[in-house]
Amino acid sequence: MDTNSLTPHGPDAAHISGLFWLMVTMGTVIYIVTMTALVVALFRGRQGARPSRFSDNAFIVGGGVVVPTLVLFVLAFATVRATNKVTAPRRDAVRLEVVGYQYWWRVEYHTPVRATTANEVHIPVGRPVDITLTSVDVNHSFWIPELAGKVDTIPGQRNLLHLQADKAGTYRGQCAEFCGLQHTHMAMLVIAEPQADFDRWVRTQARPAAAGSAVFEHQSCAGCHTIRGTSADGTLGPDLTHLAGRRTLGAVTAPNTAQNLAKWIHNAQDFKPGSLMPPVPMDPAELDALVAYLETLE
Ligand code: CUA
Repeated sequence: MDTNSLTPHGPDAAHISGLFWLMVTMGTVIYIVTMTALVVALFRGRQGARPSRFSDNAFIVGGGVVVPTLVLFVLAFATVRATNKVTAPRRDAVRLEVVGYQYWWRVEYHTPVRATTANEVHIPVGRPVDITLTSVDVNHSFWIPELAGKVDTIPGQRNLLHLQADKAGTYRGQCAEFCGLQHTHMAMLVIAEPQADFDRWVRTQARPAAAGSAVFEHQSCAGCHTIRGTSADGTLGPDLTHLAGRRTLGAVTAPNTAQNLAKWIHNAQDFKPGSLMPPVPMDPAELDALVAYLETLE
C-alpha cells in the first residue's frame, strides 16, 4: 500500500508535487547563493580594503528588490496555475460525498446507482472523481497523499475535492486535522480498480442485505447502525450492509477478521479508546451468532 506524498499517482497530486519541488528547488538555490555571498563577504572583510565591483545601491536594488520580486512572481504564478488545475470542473466525473465523523468516514456514491459505505472509497482508474466533503461533528481533513491535496471537512459547509488515480492500487488516506482522541485511527483506503470492477462493486454496495439478524436488531446495535433491507436503521455509526466486504474495522484500525470483529463488538474501546462505540455485553452464544451473521454481509 502506498502512502508517500512525494510519489504522486494522479494528475492532481502531480500538480501539487510539481509546485512543492519548484519551491524546494528555488529555496535551495536562494539559500546557496545567499550563504556563498555571506562567506565571500566575511573573507573579503579580513583581507581589507579591496573595492567592490558593485556599487552599494545596485546591490541593494538588485538583491533586495528585483530578485525577490521576480522569485515571488514566479511562485505566485505557479501556485495560481496549480490551484486552477486542481479545482477546475471535470466532465464525466464520478461523484461522491464523504462525511467526517469522530472517528470514521461515511461515503455516499451518487453514481447512477446510490450506495453508502464507510472508510473505503472505491474509484475507477483513470477517471476523475469529484468528492463533496462535510462533517457532522468537528473539523476533520480528508487527505489521500498520493492522489490529491488536503481539504478540510467542516460542519455546515460543503467543500469540493478532485482526485484521479492513474494506476490501479490501494492508497491509504488519513484525517489530517486533529479531531480528538482517535484522530490517528481515522484513516481510509482508496481502492482504484478497472471500471468494470468498480461498476460491479458499486452495484453490490447498492443492494440491501439478504437477511436480518435477531441479535443485531434486538441488541443495541440497530440503534446506531443501518443494515439496509432490515429494521436496523441507526445513523450514528457506519452503515454495515456490506461490512464483510471491507478490508478493515474501525477506519483502518484492525484487519476485518471474525476474531477482531468479536473483540470489537465485545469492547471497541480495547481497539480504539475514545471511539464512540460502547462495549456491548452479550453472552458468548449470542456474540458467535452475531459475528457469523455479520460475516455473511458480503
Ligand atoms: Cu478526524 Cu482527525
